[in-house]
Amino acid sequence: MRVGVPKETVPGEHRVALVPEIVGKLGKRGIEVVVQSSAGADALLDDALFTGAGATVTDDPAAVWACEVVVKVAPPSAAEIALLGAGSLLIGFLSPLDSPQTTRALADAKATALAMESIPRISRAQSMDALSSQSNVAGYKAALLGAEEMGRFYPMMMTAAGTIPPAAVLVLGAGVAGLQALATARRLGARTTGYDVRPEVAEQVHSLGANWLELDVEASGEGGYARELTEEERARQQQALTDAIKGFDVVITTALVPGRPAPRLVTAEAVEGMKAGSVIVDLAGETGGNCELTEPGQTVVRHGVKILSPLNLPATMPEHASALYARNVQALLELLTDDEGNLHLDFDDEIVSGCCIVRDGEIVNERAKAAVAAA
Ligand code: NAI
Repeated sequence: MRVGVPKETVPGEHRVALVPEIVGKLGKRGIEVVVQSSAGADALLDDALFTGAGATVTDDPAAVWACEVVVKVAPPSAAEIALLGAGSLLIGFLSPLDSPQTTRALADAKATALAMESIPRISRAQSMDALSSQSNVAGYKAALLGAEEMGRFYPMMMTAAGTIPPAAVLVLGAGVAGLQALATARRLGARTTGYDVRPEVAEQVHSLGANWLELDVEASGEGGYARELTEEERARQQQALTDAIKGFDVVITTALVPGRPAPRLVTAEAVEGMKAGSVIVDLAGETGGNCELTEPGQTVVRHGVKILSPLNLPATMPEHASALYARNVQALLELLTDDEGNLHLDFDDEIVSGCCIVRDGEIVNERAKAAVAAA
């Protein structure tokens, strides 16, 4: 089987779907890899490293897209989908809930496509969980951005020139990114507090040495994710948060509900109540933002508070983000191939059926189908 690795084309996407180490491992299983020239350049992975690991490197994107399997990071453009060989299998983030045009184009191309973000969150699939591996990078970077953008220390400083109290960091949404943000801010010496609508996370927040913000709004939903709040719950949550947020130097927000706009947790009134010089890092910008004053992709100052909404943070750490993503892809490819490295898609396997969005041109994922119908 031949696996193609195109160069990513979305501006700012610096990751690559496979790294040389994994190319070598796949080679031992009889899987050949064809890499587009300079695909790994932004992750400091020269073509020579791929060649050394046994890959074929080519300047011709068509040769990469003609492979039996194509592995990508960002969702493919229409032009890329047009290059996909008939009957090819595409693997990557496909945004099936937010990008119905991608799903439709893949169906029109008669492709089969597996979405990394739709891999079920079950223990057997943990090694393939790219949402987790990349959210972990985003959470780490968010904590660093908070420190970088604030004119205050994270840790307590006891110096001859006086004592400075530690910064107070609040993380809203304690999923994978939020927990990593809490851990990183704490390692840098901040006093940390976490909050989530899923009460079962409180224990994990405590285990990271953070306090738990008790707001009495709980909303566990399906598949381990949060559900959307009712109007009444949302108003109650916003009011309670507005009161609580005032005392924090840095607020990192990571709250998401799959397929829905990001919940608005931080109101303009809450921002107004924060001390000037405080920082909000909003990781939910791609789906509208968790803060009412967020401008996705921009940094703005409102009421003296800096509000950052970086998009695609994992791409800002391309070396490790690519290395982790490539391991996720490797684990999935191993599930999809037999011992001789031949492709064998078992649609009775809940991982394969769970992440399959389009099968031989037919949209088979119900939520993706609904998103296409609603578009
Ligand atoms: P996510 O990225 O979908 O959302 C981030 C966090 O925001 C979640 O913790 C969610 O509860 C929270 N949130 C949503 N609405 C909120 C609101 N209105 N106010 C406050 N917080 C809100 O979540 P992520 O990181 O993808 O994790 C989702 C679930 O998957 C979790 O239960 C996690 O433990 C589970 N998981 C399971 C794995 C496995 O078993 N293989 C691996 C990784 C995660």
